[in-house]
Amino acid sequence: MKKPNLEQIKSEAETLINNAEDLNSLENLEIKFLGRKDGEITKIMHGLASMSLAEKKKIGPEANEVKKKIESFILQRRNELLGKSRPNFDYTLPPKELETGHLHPITQFMRKVSDVFVSMGFETVDGPEVEMDKYNFDALNIPKDHPARDMWDTFYIKNRKDLVLRTHTSPVQIRAMGKRKPPVRLVCPGRVFRREATDAGHETNFYQCEGLVIDENISMANLISTLRVFFKKIFGGDVEIRVRPSFFPFVEPGIEVDMSCLLCKGKGCSACKQTGWVELLGAGMVHPTVLKNMGVDYKKYSGFAFGLGIDRFMMLYYGVNDVRLSYSGDVRFVKQF
Ligand code: FA5
Repeated sequence: MKKPNLEQIKSEAETLINNAEDLNSLENLEIKFLGRKDGEITKIMHGLASMSLAEKKKIGPEANEVKKKIESFILQRRNELLGKSRPNFDYTLPPKELETGHLHPITQFMRKVSDVFVSMGFETVDGPEVEMDKYNFDALNIPKDHPARDMWDTFYIKNRKDLVLRTHTSPVQIRAMGKRKPPVRLVCPGRVFRREATDAGHETNFYQCEGLVIDENISMANLISTLRVFFKKIFGGDVEIRVRPSFFPFVEPGIEVDMSCLLCKGKGCSACKQTGWVELLGAGMVHPTVLKNMGVDYKKYSGFAFGLGIDRFMMLYYGVNDVRLSYSGDVRFVKQF
């Protein structure tokens, strides 16, 4: 093998490397001189095997020295080129923390509500948001043209008078009972829609959680105690609730349950319309007609149902004073949970 001119290779490498215009050309030069197969220095190293002992002793260390030099030229030029493309970049800084998403507060809270009911022996059931008129109204003892339909301002589906955006989660009771026999204990959390004016406590799109219990000898006392246990499990011991008689066509008797406003501690604020109380749910004993529509023997069984407003409940839990914030799409709001 011809004696390699290591000095010449070194100075050629130095010139070429220092003049490399970009990282790509630099990489090609690295391959040219140090590439594992055909790099000029690599070939010299491989050629040592066919040299005499004396040549090996001389050229071996020299080649190694030149290799190290070329590596340092490359390192220096790489840093220069990197610095040129990002002049103020400090490579020693730790990386920026990655932002990760999380569940919307309504979803978080809805899961919490479901978990509490599941811990009390309830099963969770789902139903469609676009609902048949007969499940949203008729089967719940609200026949067509009955004035009670005015209680729910309804979005109808264009050209489909038999379909509505469900105005409450109560139709899921009827659907669920199509596939079950008493005794049952179930909750149906989900989204509902109403065509109504919005304010701090009202949205056109909000969430409810329906509850249904059917068994022998179920009474109003069971309903109120179930709700008390539930409120305690969510808020701890220090909440007050009050029960008022109310009317819903699918229950008899019907009640509404209010909770003391935790935002203003009962003094009155925009979230509780200055009353100190927030209406959280409607409830009552399932009407015999509705039990019949569910295929349940209403002489043997009785039941209670409730429809909890998740949004208002969530507002009290987290201290939010306007229901519309949840749907505003403002990340400054969502990021706080
Ligand atoms: C109902 O929707 C009945 N289906 C509840 C029910 C179920 C009664 C089973 C009896 C037996 P109501 O329209 O009152 O009832 O709504 C229930 C809860 O949803 C209210 O107490 C309130 O917390 C919440 N809610 C009602 N309208 C709105 C709205 N526009 N925005 C936010 N929350 C609302």
